[in-house]
Amino acid sequence: MQEELVRLPHFLSVKDLTIDQVLALIHRAEEFKKGIADFRLQAPVYAVNMFFENSTRTHSSFEMAEQLLGIKTIPFVPQASSINKGETLYDTLLTLSAIGCDLSIIRHSDNEYYNQLINLKGNQSLNMGIINAGDGSGQHPSQCMLDMLTIYEEFGHFDDLKIAIIGDLTNSRVARSDMQILKRLGATLYFSGPKSWFSEEFSNYGEYKDVDELVENVDVIMLLRVQHERHVEGEDDNFDPQKYHEIYGINQKRYDKMQDQAIIMHPGPINRNVELATELVEAPKSRFVQQMHNGVFARMAMIEAVLRGRQLGGLN
Ligand code: CP
Repeated sequence: MQEELVRLPHFLSVKDLTIDQVLALIHRAEEFKKGIADFRLQAPVYAVNMFFENSTRTHSSFEMAEQLLGIKTIPFVPQASSINKGETLYDTLLTLSAIGCDLSIIRHSDNEYYNQLINLKGNQSLNMGIINAGDGSGQHPSQCMLDMLTIYEEFGHFDDLKIAIIGDLTNSRVARSDMQILKRLGATLYFSGPKSWFSEEFSNYGEYKDVDELVENVDVIMLLRVQHERHVEGEDDNFDPQKYHEIYGINQKRYDKMQDQAIIMHPGPINRNVELATELVEAPKSRFVQQMHNGVFARMAMIEAVLRGRQLGGLN
């Protein structure tokens, strides 16, 4: 039986998805990747990519996904917009919606910024699908979907996989989105990195272990970037990149102890020689480049779900 295509009004948080929807999105992303997805817009669709935080991968691959789906992209530069004159995010979207934009892909530094757009009483005229491209330290649904696609391509299942998430947990929206979905998919999670970045929030999902114990035993090592820009003043005063690499990073010695089937993932951007030794970034067990490639197809599947959910482009 053919799998039902996913239909969503917005794509905001992986917490909103059922496991059947996650698997259907992975399968659809695989179809887009193989070039066998039956997809054709019947009417024009306009999207605007609004990145209030820096991005290379997410911004460019959403734009690529839009091009490949035949969506027209309306340019938006936050620094040159009327947000700088004090216009609110909601009023900016109201404007873009009135002009004719159907979709907005938004990255913002505020956790759950989208609640002010879709859940506010009186907001009646905004007729746009919103796709979250990362909210503060909250969620990163598109990174999560491309990570799930990459793991599924590798192992063909999630059940009983052992997955270690190592690094700057406190600030990581990638860790939050991924752990929420991976646990529901049946994976066993472990965490490591500086103990001060591990809190009760994470212990609800998995155990903290030493990096050396994890590298020998897990199927997936997911490294997180040290996010200096999110650290509070003084937090980095004693940060020594070399020391971090020695204690928590993946070097050749640890790489050699990994199981045959095990892989390394990193959402990027990588701090080379901090989370991962520079010579291992493109090593055989690293899936860093594959993750970025998969980002285009995972995002095509996510955009399609919102197009169908809103019956845009003549789709249903
Ligand atoms: N992984 C990720 O979100 O990368 P960018 O910040 O470059 O989009």
